[in-house]
Amino acid sequence: MCGIVGYAGEKKTIPILIDGLKRLEYRGYDSAGLAVISKERRLEVRKSPGRVSELEATLKDMPETGNRIGIAHTRWATHGEPTKENAHPHIDCTGNIALVHNGIIENYEALRTYLEERGHTFISKTDTEVVAHLIEEFLKEKGTTFLDAFIKAIQHIKGSYAIVAISVLEPDTIYASHLSSPLVIGQGEGENFLASDASPFLGKASEVLYPPEDEVVVITKDEIKLFDLNKNKRDPVFEKLEGTLESIQKGSYSHFMLKEIHEQPERIRDAMRGRLLLREGDAKLGGLEPIWGDIVNAKRIIISACGTSWHAGLVGKYMLEEIARVHTDVEYASELRYRNPVFEKGDVLFVISQSGETADTLATLREAKSKGVTVAGIVNTVGSTIAREAGVGVYIHAGPEIGVASTKAFTSQVSILALITLAIGRAKYITQEKGVVIAEAMNALPEKVGRALGAEDEIKSIARDFKNSKNFLYLGRGANFPTALEGALKLKEISYIHAEGYPAAEMKHGPIALIDENMPVVFVAPQDGIYEKVLSNIEEVRARKGKVIAIANEGDDRIKSLADYIIRVPRTLGWLGPIVNVAPLQLLAYYLALERGCPIDQPRNLAKSVTVE
Ligand code: AGP
Repeated sequence: MCGIVGYAGEKKTIPILIDGLKRLEYRGYDSAGLAVISKERRLEVRKSPGRVSELEATLKDMPETGNRIGIAHTRWATHGEPTKENAHPHIDCTGNIALVHNGIIENYEALRTYLEERGHTFISKTDTEVVAHLIEEFLKEKGTTFLDAFIKAIQHIKGSYAIVAISVLEPDTIYASHLSSPLVIGQGEGENFLASDASPFLGKASEVLYPPEDEVVVITKDEIKLFDLNKNKRDPVFEKLEGTLESIQKGSYSHFMLKEIHEQPERIRDAMRGRLLLREGDAKLGGLEPIWGDIVNAKRIIISACGTSWHAGLVGKYMLEEIARVHTDVEYASELRYRNPVFEKGDVLFVISQSGETADTLATLREAKSKGVTVAGIVNTVGSTIAREAGVGVYIHAGPEIGVASTKAFTSQVSILALITLAIGRAKYITQEKGVVIAEAMNALPEKVGRALGAEDEIKSIARDFKNSKNFLYLGRGANFPTALEGALKLKEISYIHAEGYPAAEMKHGPIALIDENMPVVFVAPQDGIYEKVLSNIEEVRARKGKVIAIANEGDDRIKSLADYIIRVPRTLGWLGPIVNVAPLQLLAYYLALERGCPIDQPRNLAKSVTVE
């Protein structure tokens, strides 16, 4: 996905656009650009491959520009390599219109042919450029306003988009619209903002508008107007802007990822605050109230997500089946949506998403809703598309997660799933006495995660020993199998070392062939109900000279004779273990990536949320 910023106001436009892009750079960072309108009403466009800082370096000779309006974009390439020509903004033939876009225009080839037949010449290989030329083409029709041409252009598009356009024809106005791609509007004092999420205007705007899809937003420094596609005015509904500037700054940490790893104790508290009922040994999730009967009586719970959120969902399966005794299926959203999925009466679908914008997860939600399935979201980003379209659900309150590799969102997602598990269990057959034991164990999690993070020095040393490894195996059983998957994904994403997560027992059915003295094997080995089995798997690895790194409980002496390296974590209930056991795996990935000089917060090829298919 990409990051979009727009500004209309009295202040110097370029510094605001650049600052906004830097706050959105986690969304995509292979090229960037901006467009402003000069005092002479001329469009000034600057673009550059690479990071926002490289774009900034090209602005030294920028003519003094009017304090009017500007748009900017940081890109995660879909169509066309990350070059200057393919960077946004894109302009039309006249050079009067500039436009940025996040999404995919699926019918861009047909539109490009239509436009080339009418004499338009293209500079880029992108899908986006067609929209600038479409507006130009439609403006040729006598009496057509820019709003008319903008509406007509978006009506010709198939696919997903957040499109923002400016023109010298209306040098004080920004036009925008979105479909299946995020767009938020910030209202300030004598200035207004527009962006892909609220980060660029945290600390600058007081209210936020989440414009409905398929409507057009028309922004000047003093006004924010909404129109439907028939040009009927609509009333914008503003909400108080949540979040603080501090929440999107690194503070004393060298990377957002490290900050977010260490935030987890507090964020898990936030996830459980007001929801975990210690005395009653129960949990209450107000956001699920409207469908709580469906959830408690569900014959099957389906959890669908992508990436780390899918791993959280897989932990949820182990929780819900062991404790709430409800059949739970976990599905990759990208697979479920195309499989003509079988939904039956009594199914309840939970979609999990940190960004709330992941295209495959959103599509799965829509597919299930179209088939009448009861749905709910477990989402981090307030007001995101998935949160709004699910209509019912639970915010995880992890705060903005800037590091591309998800960490605090995972543990907060799993904490929410634990609350749901407790609440269903208590509604069905768990006694208050047992519920209190569970609730107390959950209440102790933040402190235990904090203690697990205390192993940072040992982990730094292990990272030094293994920084040249080419492969890692991560093995775990039960709810720690998804913990192993998550540890492996973290390592892959930010250190580029190949790593594979596997059920520990399954290692004998193939991956054991990989074991030799060059293969580090990370075992998630808490003293839970299957601990003995994991010890046997460790023996099998050692018998083949594999190097064993064990995540083991405090006080576990048996592991000493089996593991080459031990990282200690506090004990908790087996099914809550992933919340504690993942913390050292996050730090291990972080310090291995640091040892290897990788760009931790913005790993190559990745983006924070994949809003394209
Ligand atoms: C996790 O570290 C990755 N960045 C990625 O797998 C991510 O979890 C996935 O794209 C899903 O994103 P979402 O939670 O925002 O839907």
